[in-house]
Amino acid sequence: EIHKGINGLEKVILRDIRGSSVEIYLYGAQVTSWKNEHGEELLFLSSKSNFKPPKPIRGGIPICFPQFSNLGSLEAHGFARNRFWVVDPSPPPFPTHSSNKKYVDLLLKPSEEDTKIWPHSFEFRLRVTLGPAGDLMLTSRIRNTNTDGKPFTFTFAYHTYFSVSDISEVRVEGLETLDYLDNLQNRQRFTEQGDAITFESEVDKIYLSTPTKIAILDHEKKRTFVIRKDGLPDAVVWNPWDKKAKSMADFGDDEYKHMLCVEAAAVEKPITLKPGEEWRGRQELSTVPSSYCSGQ
Ligand code: BG6
Repeated sequence: EIHKGINGLEKVILRDIRGSSVEIYLYGAQVTSWKNEHGEELLFLSSKSNFKPPKPIRGGIPICFPQFSNLGSLEAHGFARNRFWVVDPSPPPFPTHSSNKKYVDLLLKPSEEDTKIWPHSFEFRLRVTLGPAGDLMLTSRIRNTNTDGKPFTFTFAYHTYFSVSDISEVRVEGLETLDYLDNLQNRQRFTEQGDAITFESEVDKIYLSTPTKIAILDHEKKRTFVIRKDGLPDAVVWNPWDKKAKSMADFGDDEYKHMLCVEAAAVEKPITLKPGEEWRGRQELSTVPSSYCSGQ
């Protein structure tokens, strides 16, 4: 069912009978809300977000495709996040269909204008699934539909903005001792030292070849987010902190305290698809009470 959201933009709402819910705007196929069974919002959405195409929505889960960041000739993070997607009215069923899973499929195909900036034909199918335990799964299937025999190459990220109570009290586990590229230092390569990651200033790092499970521990909320990913070897960690926050028109000056982006991504090694080939990239989000999740 399609609803009218902010500024009349259309959105789909998935609800579980236990009370959890997800909202997805067709603009950008962007998840903007994920609530648990108590109605608590788990994603960050900026109060200053535009909801005015062609600007992307600030918060939730933007899809970065076919280019992550400004690592190529396209606009930052590619164009998927500021295109209107369509809902597939008859999506293929799950291989093992279970009726207690709510899901919606959104599709993106390039317009003629798009092929002028990225000369390829593709079909992008994003499936958003709300599991019975309130977990949120995003599965992207991208198929090369070029008829000229040419392969194409892309980078990708689920640019997930998590809502946290106080960034100074947050720890990320699963990335310690890994190599990363530091976007704040000309993408030079470094190795993370020691313990879980904590935050006290701006961070913009691309962790390489990470484990498939990453945890964000929110001490104050006594909540741990668990990210599981498949087909997405890298993980971007971003918080703009105070100075950068002030320079962003669609982001409140103090909002950096209440958000953290941890993004399942394929950046270091771009994905290449030949005509007819399909790539699949998956991110699964769940929460557990903190006391159950110390360490891996
Ligand atoms: C992160 C990038 O993923 O997204 C940062 O690593 C960037 O460099 C941030 O600043 C936000 O990007 P944008 O285009 O949504 O402002």
